[in-house]
Parts: sequence; C-alpha cells; structure tokens
Amino acid sequence: MSEAHGETVTEVITSESLSERIGALADAVNKDYQGRTPILVSVLKGTLPFIADLGRRLTIPVEFDFLQLTRFGEGGRIGIALDTGDSLTHRDVILVEDIVDTGLSLQTLHQILAERHVSSLSTVTLLDKVPRRLVDVPLEYRGFEVGDEYLVGYGLDWQGKFRNLPGIWAILDRPAFERDLTGQFAYMYG
Ligand code: IMP
Repeated sequence: MSEAHGETVTEVITSESLSERIGALADAVNKDYQGRTPILVSVLKGTLPFIADLGRRLTIPVEFDFLQLTRFGEGGRIGIALDTGDSLTHRDVILVEDIVDTGLSLQTLHQILAERHVSSLSTVTLLDKVPRRLVDVPLEYRGFEVGDEYLVGYGLDWQGKFRNLPGIWAILDRPAFERDLTGQFAYMYG
C-alpha cells in the first residue's frame, strides 16, 4: 500500500525563511563584534551549509575553523574526533552549531574551550530544540526554536543522508519513513 508522504514528512523551514533568519543572525554578529576579528568554530558535519551562508553574510573580518565530536555509545561520553587546526588562545571564539538538543555536546565544548584561554566565547545555533534540553547552556544567537520531532535537511542528516536538502523537514512518522525511504527521498527532493 502506498503511504501519504505528507503525513510522514513535512517541510518546517523553507530555504527562504532560513535565508531571512540567517541574515538577521549575521546582522547581530556584525554589530556585536564590530572592530574585532572573531574565529568561527563550526561543529562538523551538520553546520556545513549554515556556516557557509552565515559566513557570507558577515561584513566583519572573520576566520573559520572546524571540529568534530564523537559519542561513545548511546548517551555516552562525548569526545573530540577532529580538533581545530588553529590555536584559540586569546581569540574571540564564536561556536557555530546546527542544532542544540539535550545541550550535552555544547556543554562539553564549553568545558574543552574553557581550558584553552579564549578571550571570549559565544554560541550561534541555527536551531534550538527547547523541549529536549537536559542541561542549561548559554545560547547568545538562536535562529529558530523547534519542537522535538527529528529534523533533516540543511545540514541535518538521517543516517548520513538528506544534508543537502535546501529546507528543513520534520519526520512525523518514523516507522513509515523507514519503510519507504526511496519514496520519501523522491518526494522531498521532488
Ligand atoms: P545534543 O548534544 O543532544 O545537544 O545534540 C546535538 C547534536 O545532535 C546535533 O549537533 C546533531 O548532530 C544531533 N541532533 C539532535 N537533534 C537532531 C535532529 O533533529 N536531526 C538531526 N540531528 C540532530
């Protein structure tokens, strides 16, 4: 039996809304960091489109660096899989996140960066999954508040895929989504 794709997945943030909101986030960063050269440290891989679009809307001098986290087991310890190439000592660091969910990744990043004697630290996240927060973490710049559905697109993945969708989609029915991945794929990329 064919499934109604619209009941399984739905686009929750279009590329137009993303572009508009990212412009507003860039305006705020431009204003707050006037006269400084911050380093944008983006957390791979989900931040790829966001850092590219946000970076191009900034009118202050910035540098870019990347790191990647790893999780040991379900709900386990969080470590660094790939560290930044540049020293962050005495730098104004802006952490760039795709989505803050429980907050545990960001809390770990804050602990790691606290030991690196940065001049200042702030965080910009595209999405804030407020209902799932377990630990309180400071978020200076937030794009959108989202609910607790699993999201894909614009950097966010499902088993490594869907990161290249221009908008953000919510998976409303996970079993139906997994039953017909090919059909969903055709519908979402249609
Ligand atoms: P946290 O440590 O629980 O805050 O998790 C943050 C990370 O979980 C993000 O950087 C994403 O990699 C992943 N994540 C959380 N929610 C989603 C989602 O809805 N879609 C895709 N990845 C997610």
